[in-house]
Amino acid sequence: MKKAVFSGMGMYIPETIVTNKQLEVLMDTSDEWITERTGIKERHKVKPGEGTAAVALPAAVMALANAKMAKEDIQLIIFSTIAGDFLAPGSGAILNEMLGVPGTPAVDIRQACSGFIFGMSMAKAYIQSGLYERILLVTAEVQSVALQMSTEGRDTAALFGDGAAAVVIIAEDGHKDSAGIGSIALHSDGRYAEDLSIQIPTTRETPFLSEQMIKDRRHWVVMNGRNVFKHAITKFPAVINEVMALEGITKDQVKLVIPHQANLRISEAVAKKMDLPMHSVVYSNIHKYGNTTSASIPIALFEAVQEGKVKKGDLIVMAAFGAGFSWGAAIYKW
Ligand code: COA
Repeated sequence: MKKAVFSGMGMYIPETIVTNKQLEVLMDTSDEWITERTGIKERHKVKPGEGTAAVALPAAVMALANAKMAKEDIQLIIFSTIAGDFLAPGSGAILNEMLGVPGTPAVDIRQACSGFIFGMSMAKAYIQSGLYERILLVTAEVQSVALQMSTEGRDTAALFGDGAAAVVIIAEDGHKDSAGIGSIALHSDGRYAEDLSIQIPTTRETPFLSEQMIKDRRHWVVMNGRNVFKHAITKFPAVINEVMALEGITKDQVKLVIPHQANLRISEAVAKKMDLPMHSVVYSNIHKYGNTTSASIPIALFEAVQEGKVKKGDLIVMAAFGAGFSWGAAIYKW
């Protein structure tokens, strides 16, 4: 059977740091409040004019270099972002131009925080179908431009950060237990679509963007934080248990759980519910980057590997929950 295997990873974090102390100047908040409720100490933001594909590019170039693969050998780009450079076309096409690979197909996915898990499922399916053998999965998020840097927007301004990560995924001959992407479980529930959303431009209105909409402050990220929290702490454990059952493994066999870095309190609640040790098994780097939406899992995986926390043969569980609501989990054997 064909296995979908990570052959190189890359990440990119924009240089500019925004600390909790800096937010204190812009809005009614405190380092203490943000640290206690979210675990976040700082996040990064793009330079003015640096769009989503520009953030993706260095991560993609690094992943290709680490995979020792020429960009021309990539057969498909899967680009995950919640906010692309343009409403249309997708940022995959823009990255295609920046990378200089005209003709290479590029598909965008908008599964928000679960984008990496959904993207892995697509890469795995393409590889197992035999359609492609070398895929670049890119996650890139520029969220700072959609955050309201005032007391009104303090719930989201404190949470989200910019960043990108990329993985080259290749086909290798293997069997169920060899290295690569294992079982995946995916879910969406659109009943909660408005609980975490950016609602304009909207095809429900003509024109789909107007001065009035901006005056009404409808262009910012909106979040029902309590509802997101409530669903996240039940869906994360459920989908992790689901994917382990699909794979036929128990939690004792899992070396590392990499949850989407939504909020440290969510990760801690999940660890507690599942009786998993927070520091040794459940990975967290949210203090440095905030919530980088679909880029958070591959950034965390990249850093976990750099820190020597992942060794050949280890079983990793990656799990995400976010806007949609969409959620999912994947097993990866390193
Ligand atoms: N600084 C200070 N106060 C803040 C704040 C901030 N950055 N953000 C919100 N508050 C305030 C609220 O305005 C509210 O004030 P009020 O009582 O005067 O109305 C108060 O804190 C309590 O709000 P509440 O929503 O009850 O706080 P909370 O304990 O639920 O924490 C979140 C707020 C956003 C941290 C929390 O709901 C959360 O983590 N939700 C999940 C968000 C998430 O992970 N999103 C991404 C998913 S991918």
